[in-house]
Order: sequence, then C-alpha cells, then structure tokens
Amino acid sequence: MPRAFVFLINIYLSHNVWRLEHPSLSYSTIRFLATMAATAHAFTKYREMVEVTTIRALMSLGVFDALSSEGTAISLEELSHKTSANASLLQRLLRVVVSTGMVDFDPGSGTYAHTDISLGYCSGQLPANFFRLMHDEVLKSCVCFPEWIRHNGRTADPAGPDSHKRCLATFRDGNDGKTLFDVLSADPERQSNFHAGMKAMADLHPFQGIYDFSPLTAKAAQDPSRTLFVDVGGGTGTFLASLMDSHPSLPTDKLVLQDLPPVIEMAHSNMALPSSITLQPHDFHTPQPVRGAWTYHIRACLHDYGDHNATAILAHIANAMAPDSTLLIEENIMPEMPVKDEVIALADVVMMVCGGRERSEGDWQRLLKNAGLEIRTIHRPHGGKLTWAVIEASLVKQ
Ligand SMILES: C[S@@+](CC[C@H](N)C(=O)[O-])C[C@H]1O[C@@H](n2cnc3c(N)ncnc32)[C@H](O)[C@@H]1O
Repeated sequence: MPRAFVFLINIYLSHNVWRLEHPSLSYSTIRFLATMAATAHAFTKYREMVEVTTIRALMSLGVFDALSSEGTAISLEELSHKTSANASLLQRLLRVVVSTGMVDFDPGSGTYAHTDISLGYCSGQLPANFFRLMHDEVLKSCVCFPEWIRHNGRTADPAGPDSHKRCLATFRDGNDGKTLFDVLSADPERQSNFHAGMKAMADLHPFQGIYDFSPLTAKAAQDPSRTLFVDVGGGTGTFLASLMDSHPSLPTDKLVLQDLPPVIEMAHSNMALPSSITLQPHDFHTPQPVRGAWTYHIRACLHDYGDHNATAILAHIANAMAPDSTLLIEENIMPEMPVKDEVIALADVVMMVCGGRERSEGDWQRLLKNAGLEIRTIHRPHGGKLTWAVIEASLVKQ
C-alpha cells in the first residue's frame, strides 16, 4: 500500500484526537479521511478473501502436508514433485501465504518451510478441519446469498418452516427440496469432511465442566433396567466418548447413540466406542423410539433448524419422556441485544446456511414451551465470553 495512503489512514484512525487538537479541520477533510479508512477496510476484506481461497487451494494440493513438519525447508521443485502439482501454480499460491507470514520463505536458498500456523493446516489437525468446514460448507454457500435473495425474494425468512430444505446449502448446487444432511449422505468425502469439521467445532466447545453428569451413576444403580442416556443426533459419538472418559463407571450398555443411518454406519466403522453402546439409526423428525430414559441429550442440532422444525424435534423427545426424565440441550445462548465483538453473531449467520439460527434465552423459553417443556436451569461456563450453555429441561408439570 502506498505510504501516503497508510499515513492518511493513520491520521483518520486518530481523527477524534486530531479534531480536538485541530478544531479547524474542515468537514470535507474529515469526510475524505473517512473514505480512506473505508477503502482500507475494503482492501483488508479483499485480502482476506483471496487469502482464504488460496489456503484452501494449497490444502487441496496437499502442500501443507508436503512441507516438512520437522522444520527442514523444501524447494519449489521438491514441493512440485511431492504434490504432483504444477510448479508455477504452487509458486503463485505460495506467494500469498508467504506475504501473510503463514509460510516461511528463505530467499537465499529459495526454500519454503512451515511456521507454527501452517503446521495447523496439515491433514487431521483441528484448525485444518475447522477451516475446511467453514470454507466448503459455509463460505461456498454464503457466496450465493445475492442469487438466493433474488430467487426467493427479499422477504424470504432463512429460518422459515421449510428452510432446512430451501437454504443456501441446498440452493448452491441446485439441491432445493433436500436437506443439507441428504446432500452430505450422497457424497462420502464431503460427509466425512463435514464430520471431521464438526468434531473440530465440538472440540472448541467444552464437552465437560458446564453440567455435572456425575449423578447419572447413581441413577443407573437406582433402576438398572432403564436407559440412562440417549444422545439424539449425536454424530459419530464424540460427546459420548468424552462422557465415558470423564465418568468411567457409567454402564455403557445403558447408553444410546442416535443419528442418521450413514452417520451411525461411520460410528460403527470408526470403532471408537465400546461395542456395548447401542448405536441406533434414528431420524429425529420422527417419533423417539427410546421411551422413558433418564436423560435425553441433544447437542448442536436444534440450531440447524428454524423454530417450526426445532419445535417438532423437541416435541418428539417430549412425547417419549417420563415425568422424571431430563432433557439436556447443549447450544449457544445469544445475548438478547446485539453487542460489540459478538462471535455468536457470526455463528448465527453460519446457521443460515442450513436454514437454522442461534437463539437467545427468551427464544429458548418460547421454543421449549411450544413443545410442552420447561427450562429448569441454564448451566453456563464460569467466566469468559463463551455463550455455550447446557439447558436443563423437563416436561411441563400438569
Ligand atoms: C451439528 S452436528 C452435531 C453432532 C453432535 N451432537 C455434536 O455435538 O458433535 C448435527 C448432527 O445432527 C445429525 N442429523 C441431521 N439430521 C438428522 C436427523 N433427521 N435425524 C437424526 N440426526 C440428524 C447430523 O448427522 C449431525 O450428526
């Protein structure tokens, strides 16, 4: 960026002080400086857009895996050989990530090397899985926003009654009428990447430490014939694995993992869970087959849906609950009013991709009430800015 431009922006950024010290600064000068700052803002966004797509291209080519993790530098020719990729393409893409400091380049030897940041983008690493999910499922869908609005009209509600079948994620490839999960089921690689990303997301939210699961052990002893815990839409069992890790005395044969058939199939083939756990294919839009369990648990599923479908999912669980059953909902709780630096505002837009939404405490209260449930307690993490919480609910007392 030209130095004069940077200089002007810096003046603008401190213009409040500047105005106090230079009350004579004209309105038109201030407007000019403001335009400069807005241009710098747009330039930063442009840079981020190109950087994101470049990183994804480098991941597809396997460049981060090909850079040595032992810290030894590697030439362009070697990289091209290891990735079977066009050397000129690699060089142009690498220029971008060298410019941002993500990858090291030594002009003397003409070699590239990992930084601590680029190491996180190697296959299987949490940042890589999270980034790929956000790029492939969120960004690729969100770039269709203008067309989606043109197609559906300006008054269309992205979390309306049929939004899970008419969302950005289905619109983008002409899949309206199917859900994102139908689309994923038909594409094993995308499905597997999605669940790796989900695991990364799940790992970013605490599994344990917000809600005290230890009373479950006593409940199991109280009535050994009763199902202890049903994880509805539990994916490949990441949550259940963490529950068993932290509470090893829980009877695994009283735990149930439910999800769509292809996901349960993945859980079977992962073999990460004890074989005594029941792995049950179940569509949560249909009546809950396990009746009267002590605890039903649904984590990071309801925000995939608008209120109409989320209420129906909850009502199916409510219909299976006994008066003393507990429902645990693990989700974000948005502040009622917009606040500065609100990460959850981003998550809410991310949820639009599949026709869902994040919810405030008031929203949760209304949703549960419409499904015949009521909130007993909301368990929140101590301190920090985390909005992740466990909502403990039960059937409305007659
Ligand atoms: C965002 S993931 C959350 C997974 C898991 N609960 C966790 O916290 O990691 C949503 C899950 O809902 C599952 N799902 C989507 N539609 C479903 C349906 N109709 N019935 C059951 N599970 C479904 C998906 O397969 C996926 O595993």
